[in-house]
Amino acid sequence: MTIAANRRVLSGMRPTGQLHLGHYHGVLKNWVQLQHEYECFFFVADWHALTTSYDDTAIIGQTVYDIVVDWLSVGINPGEATLFVQSRVPEHAELHLLLSMITPISWLERVPSYKDQQEKLRERDLSTYGFLGYPLLQAADILIYKGGHVPVGEDQVAHIEMAREVARRFNHLYGREPGFEDKAEAAAKKMGRKNAKLYFEIRRTYQEGGDLEALAKGRALLEAQQNISLGDRERLLGYLEGGGKVILPEPQALLTPESKMPGLDGEKMSKSYHNTIGLREAPESVTQKLRTMPTDPARVRRSDPGDPQKCPVWRFHEIYSSDDTRQWAREGCTTAGIGCLDCKQPVIDAVLREQQPIRERSVEFLNDPDTVRAIIDEGCEAARDVARDTLDDVRQAMSLVYR
Ligand code: TRP
Ligand code: SF4
Repeated sequence: MTIAANRRVLSGMRPTGQLHLGHYHGVLKNWVQLQHEYECFFFVADWHALTTSYDDTAIIGQTVYDIVVDWLSVGINPGEATLFVQSRVPEHAELHLLLSMITPISWLERVPSYKDQQEKLRERDLSTYGFLGYPLLQAADILIYKGGHVPVGEDQVAHIEMAREVARRFNHLYGREPGFEDKAEAAAKKMGRKNAKLYFEIRRTYQEGGDLEALAKGRALLEAQQNISLGDRERLLGYLEGGGKVILPEPQALLTPESKMPGLDGEKMSKSYHNTIGLREAPESVTQKLRTMPTDPARVRRSDPGDPQKCPVWRFHEIYSSDDTRQWAREGCTTAGIGCLDCKQPVIDAVLREQQPIRERSVEFLNDPDTVRAIIDEGCEAARDVARDTLDDVRQAMSLVYR
């Protein structure tokens, strides 16, 4: 990965309906944290929704809007992160097309989600070109921002790996710009005489002996340079490593720990399991859902003792309750000292408490659609500026600049 890009984070989410607490605990809380530490780009992957739901496109627009409201409501701050919509940055599509020329079909066919999803979504015909190309579109999404880190779940790691391979192949094919060596040497001089000398020494040490410490030193040296352009930095990095210019840096998966958020039935919270609590669902409805959620089936009567390990409510206590409350619940359950509704009350309170600020902020945004639209417009513009720059580099490298 190039140094210039390694403080950048990019991630996307498919618009699949309103978000729930599983998304919050699994993804969004992490994004909120990342926005303070990295330059973040978060986007709604609406074209990706088309790869599986091409026959039901009418609802995508509303969903896109809802997702952005959800993001804003949980505290993703447009002052810190760039929020945008994939289809509003058509450069993704151009890069996807160009990358498709160099991507072997076998790379796409062997991505595990290709066969898995086809099996899982049997009712849909997924033998389409777009569905096969899905991971390559995702690679374009990432590479166009020279995204260093990509926060994703385990299920997406293979896609990031493919993006790395595509970047590597691209750099290998097109990184050898005409006069690369001369350009790299000229770039080195721009670091000043002392640094240039050091750079050449380090490069010789690395290339003659494969000394990894020297490589690390060289990278650090380049990282510390304030006065060289991104292009020159990438040239110098490529020249140091012995390849060509790194045009599309290889991204890295930033593995998001699997969410422990259970659904109402104790399974993973997921829309397809119908066991969700909406991020900004009305309190009455949340209360009702939690009050009626299943418990240890052994507790038929109030006087039957139960086993928290066999109860989905306990999983909620594990996330939401203090040690004291957990102690109280376990004790009360195993001795039949409390009823299940008693046991659920602290969970209900905690979930409502967690949702309250989210719900309040969402009301503000829902009452002010102009602001939401403006945030989206600005994010799309900012994203486009970056995407256009990358695409200029890409066209240049591929010798596609003629008019
Ligand atoms: N494929 C991702 C998912 O289904 C969404 C996505 C699309 C994405 N493009 C991306 C995630 C780029 C990270 C980076 O969850
Ligand atoms: Fe579950 Fe609590 Fe009822 Fe025990 S008392 S079965 S942990 S809800």
